[in-house]
Amino acid sequence: MSTTDLTAVKNYSYSGEKIFSLAKDFLPINGTDYVELYVGNAKQAAHYYKTAFGFQSLAYSGLETGDKEKTSYVLQQDKIRLVLTTPFNPDSEISEHIKKHGDGVKVIALWVDDAHEAFYETVSRGAKIYLSPETISDADGEVVRSGIYTYGDTIHLFIERKNYNGVFMPGFEKWESEYNPSDLGFKYIDHMVGNVELGDMTKWAKFYEDVMGFANLVTFDDKDISTQYTALMSKVMTSGNGRIKFPINEPAHGLKKSQIEEYIDFNKGAGCQHIAIATNDIVFSVSEMRKRGVEFLHVPGSYYDTVADRVGIIEEDMAILKQLGIMVDRDEEGYLLQIFTKPVEDRPTLFFEIIQRKGAKSFGKGNFKALFESIEAEQERRGTL
Ligand code: FE2
Repeated sequence: MSTTDLTAVKNYSYSGEKIFSLAKDFLPINGTDYVELYVGNAKQAAHYYKTAFGFQSLAYSGLETGDKEKTSYVLQQDKIRLVLTTPFNPDSEISEHIKKHGDGVKVIALWVDDAHEAFYETVSRGAKIYLSPETISDADGEVVRSGIYTYGDTIHLFIERKNYNGVFMPGFEKWESEYNPSDLGFKYIDHMVGNVELGDMTKWAKFYEDVMGFANLVTFDDKDISTQYTALMSKVMTSGNGRIKFPINEPAHGLKKSQIEEYIDFNKGAGCQHIAIATNDIVFSVSEMRKRGVEFLHVPGSYYDTVADRVGIIEEDMAILKQLGIMVDRDEEGYLLQIFTKPVEDRPTLFFEIIQRKGAKSFGKGNFKALFESIEAEQERRGTL
């Protein structure tokens, strides 16, 4: 009996009726467990994310906790956990990752109830194995984890922590720090975007559909997302319960080099392009980030001349949004406010989005043009357009 058959059996109720709603979601995901970046200097990166993004110290592992291979700092803000890891040895997998990609996202860890089942459901559907299920434990209990590859060198780990009460994970100790800048009201990870090579978007969208049971929420083609010079295409994939959203971008042909191509050139392949963080008060979050030195993409003042016609009535003061460079878009259900940082490393690769949803559950397409013209202006300055 194949794993698919087992799933079908499990989804029959005792009365013998098939529960169709359960049949599709063979990979129930509770949320994003953590995101791990491999970086050249985790100590300094941790300082940046505490200072500039208001993350709080949570946990630490390194030489002092018995890890001779690497140091990891774990930062937290409400439901978001960020892990920053630096290797000690040049021949480690982590060093290879940093050498090739620069600082960037390696692990998108997903919180599941059963890491064995998540592994078998995905691997039986064709996922490439990164980590076979393993149990790690300490005095606070045990964590089961397993993992598969996704685009580029990025991986998904499945984390089962229902029998664990420690601060983060076995091997980590609580990180007590005397430096604790206040948080910025960030709540959870709204979505994480993958950039893939020309022609690969459909392949990876299908991977999320077939291997992980995701559905295609919306597709943007090169007519939706283009400027005079460059274009891209995007498919937004979402988990069965809607808690995880992974848009997949690929470059489209234009007169000049697409920002996705620029990313792939500098990242040396596919990878995570941006992490979108949700806040309930974007005006506060962005004002504070600007004070703390975060750089954002410039939105042309003319954008605000027409935005009200496009999005209708909103609760926020448009003059303040303009002053902070916050953009507004809408879908059928409501509107959303968003802003994009410049890349947070010297390679023009990973950046962050700050988003506040006011009813909109999907993504609009009204901001793309303004945003891309802004990115092109940056590309022009870098000589990579
Ligand atoms: Fe985004």
